[in-house]
Amino acid sequence: MRIRALTDEDAPAWREIRARMLREHPEAFGEDADEFLARELPELCDRIRDGRVMGAWIDGTLAGTVGWFVGRGAKRKHVAEIWGMYVAPETRRAGAARALLRAAVEASDAVGVRVWELGVEENNHSALKLYESEGFAVWGVERDAYRFSGRSVNVLHMSRFADA
Ligand SMILES: CC(C)(COP(=O)(O)OP(=O)(O)OC[C@H]1O[C@@H](n2cnc3c(N)ncnc32)[C@H](O)[C@@H]1OP(=O)(O)O)[C@@H](O)C(=O)NCCC(=O)NCCS
Repeated sequence: MRIRALTDEDAPAWREIRARMLREHPEAFGEDADEFLARELPELCDRIRDGRVMGAWIDGTLAGTVGWFVGRGAKRKHVAEIWGMYVAPETRRAGAARALLRAAVEASDAVGVRVWELGVEENNHSALKLYESEGFAVWGVERDAYRFSGRSVNVLHMSRFADA
């Protein structure tokens, strides 16, 4: 497995895997799959650059991703949001998600991030276990955070602190 930041050339592969995660797990992500697929490639390249998306490559295929972005402005540049964590079902339980999360934390730490935040659907026990084992703790619940197909999803907010 190889973990590296995605570049513009990876935008088509990222579009494919992101569409897959949004369709397979609508409860886990805040973005709608059809809205995502309506975006043009240049916009996806901007998101890869701005969001700094890390990819896990297994046998030459993009098998997992996670993104991070830093808060804007002097007062928020120590805070990063982690988003878009996904590993394809056929490659799960092999450590890809943990490796991706560590790579995102390490890369953001290198540019001065000291607080990491993320949201996770309240019944997503696999992801919760992963995040707790990497030092994240729940500090709040956002009720009715996402609505789709007549469903409503509650999201737990978690943070990790460099000095904890
Ligand atoms: C959650 C997800 C990213 C984990 O990916 P993964 O590559 O299988 O995870 P890893 O192999 O790196 O496992 C890391 C830890 O996560 C936890 N974990 C992962 N899958 C688990 C499962 N099915 N049951 C219980 N714990 C699990 C464990 O603590 C595991 O550590 P361990 O192997 O030492 O026990 C993956 O299941 C996924 O993509 N799920 C759908 C999308 C999603 O929910 N994304 C998160 C949005 S917040």
